[in-house]
Amino acid sequence: MLTESRKMVRHFLVGLAVMLMIGLPSALLAQEAQPPDPIQKDKLELGKRVYFKRCVWCHGVEGGGDGPSADRLFTRPRNFIQGTFKIRWTDSGELPLDKNLIDTVKNGLPGSAMPPWGEVLSEEEVVSVVQFVKSLVQDRDFADEDEEVVPQDFGKNPWGTTGPYHLGVPQEAIDQGKEVFLKNKCFECHGGEGRGDGNPTMKDDWGFAIFAADWQQCWNFRGSRRNHFDPFNVVRTISTGLNGTPMPNFKDKITIEDRWKLAAFVNSLCPRKRIDKLTNKPIPDFLIQSKYTEGPVSTDMNDPMWQAPDDDPAIKARPAEYAGKEGQKWHYVAMAGQITRGERNFKPKVDNLWVMSNWSEEEQAVYYLVEFHNRFLSVDPAFQDGVAMQWPGQLEDLFGAEKPYFIYGDSKKPVDVWKANFMVKSYKDTNAPNPNGYDLDVSVQELVGKGFDAIEEKGTPGGVEVVASKYHQGRVKIMFKRSLKTDNPDKTDVQIPTKTFVPVSFLQWSGWDKEHDEHMAISTWYYTILVPPDPASMYYMPPILAVSFFGFQMWLVWMTKRTRKMAAEGKVK
Ligand code: HEC
Ligand code: HEC
Repeated sequence: MLTESRKMVRHFLVGLAVMLMIGLPSALLAQEAQPPDPIQKDKLELGKRVYFKRCVWCHGVEGGGDGPSADRLFTRPRNFIQGTFKIRWTDSGELPLDKNLIDTVKNGLPGSAMPPWGEVLSEEEVVSVVQFVKSLVQDRDFADEDEEVVPQDFGKNPWGTTGPYHLGVPQEAIDQGKEVFLKNKCFECHGGEGRGDGNPTMKDDWGFAIFAADWQQCWNFRGSRRNHFDPFNVVRTISTGLNGTPMPNFKDKITIEDRWKLAAFVNSLCPRKRIDKLTNKPIPDFLIQSKYTEGPVSTDMNDPMWQAPDDDPAIKARPAEYAGKEGQKWHYVAMAGQITRGERNFKPKVDNLWVMSNWSEEEQAVYYLVEFHNRFLSVDPAFQDGVAMQWPGQLEDLFGAEKPYFIYGDSKKPVDVWKANFMVKSYKDTNAPNPNGYDLDVSVQELVGKGFDAIEEKGTPGGVEVVASKYHQGRVKIMFKRSLKTDNPDKTDVQIPTKTFVPVSFLQWSGWDKEHDEHMAISTWYYTILVPPDPASMYYMPPILAVSFFGFQMWLVWMTKRTRKMAAEGKVK
């Protein structure tokens, strides 16, 4: 105790002397080396109790990151033994401050299975469990004289932006940030458009595969502290690096002013549509509106009818060709791992899709463009990539809000599944990103589902086509087309009415990650509506939306609880 307080006095005096001598600003003083925060031994007993109740399932009895749920999780729970922590205010390779670990435990690590505990545990419990975690570190010693930590200088937000969206960064700063991005070659890992598709061969310090963050899905940033548009979090990451991962620090290569601009650029890539407080992701658009077109629908994905300018004009200027036109709209669809059956997959590679739709009066056909980010695609024909739309097979027999079972229906309420299986042409996952993107080899499968064990190919297909497809810098686009009505004698096809809410849901398989069959990502039921030329009937939207949004929240809560319960019971294998 005595030596500790002596050390503190010494550090204080040194700091004071430096300040007085050369009048350094206090921000720089923060860069003084100091001893790590010691373990508060009196808190270990409570900390241990919390740990064995809440954390052991993932982090393991001795903190080896090998709890009963560990094998199924990507990223794996942290092994605490080496004392390697990603999110810190200290220099690369150094131990974290208590404050950093406390913030991590409170806010969780988004994009991983590490939950936020801030609302579950009291302040006292959080501080205590952090002390216990520190006591699990074996390879390093928080009391070692030589273990110094140097809190880094992060400067100050030059634009004074605040949450939740941190709007108001001048475009000029964002553009300059892009220059810094190019100069420092962040794209070698993060990809040319920031989708994390630069390098498939990286490993973390524990030997597990790891991928660069997808900047366009900043809600998955580990260190986002549940405020993922705050450029501070990015400044912190590039100033300190992420210990245990290939993400280096850039504090000597990039000035602190430029780090803020780079952070502004990184953040500008992330959509700022309405963010849901529960999930920290964009709020799903439960109603997928199909826009009316009198003439034919273009199958050119670059045609303005398939372009949605960013909803927020403060972030990206609306391109000139849209002036005066009503914007098309991407609809956000949340995906989760299928966990009710078979091989359980808690963390599918793809956790959301974006969907846009047009329908043509003249063609009597509907088109859906489905887009998702996937860093790498399959090169193994045994594990093709896939995405599917699922419809009630016999819509006309459903009453009111009735829907088939959300995975492949059941014997009374069958589903109609339009599935696109695809491989990328002349592609290797180790190729340098191709600026023109890649074409896909797509085959369409039409399936009838009458339950999980009763999913089979249709006798007579209903004429579903994939009329356009592309893979470009970590993004897949697949455009489905089908006639509104079919005269299939087997009655296995959905007959799509106009002006009516039709349930639809989505399924997706990442071949590169060996997802196949029931090992997939799924959405709950959404609705789609073929909007008539006169959108007066849209008055009916709000009640339906409210109902389905509530339903989704319940579903999410249910899935989360179920996962936690299974983890707690050690059933997650
Ligand atoms: C459902 C599984 C799960 C549970 C339960 C869990 N964690 Fe984690 N935790 C993870 C995963 C996964 C990671 C690693 C994420 C990564 O590396 O990106 C992690 C990482 C961490 C880290 C490292 C942070 C850093 O900066 O590197 C700490 C500290 C931590 N957890 C503490 C806790 C504590 C304390 C509890 C209990 C109150 C807990 N965890 C419960 C899954 C879990
Ligand atoms: C050598 C490869 C590599 C380079 C170069 C690289 N990164 Fe990363 N970066 C990574 C990896 C790997 C991760 C993900 C670590 C993880 O999932 O824990 C990451 C994560 C991030 C994150 C997310 C942090 C979080 O909270 O989860 C940001 C932001 C980021 N990098 C910014 C940058 C910027 C800006 C540059 C260029 C100055 C850059 N990176 C250069 C590999 C790299």
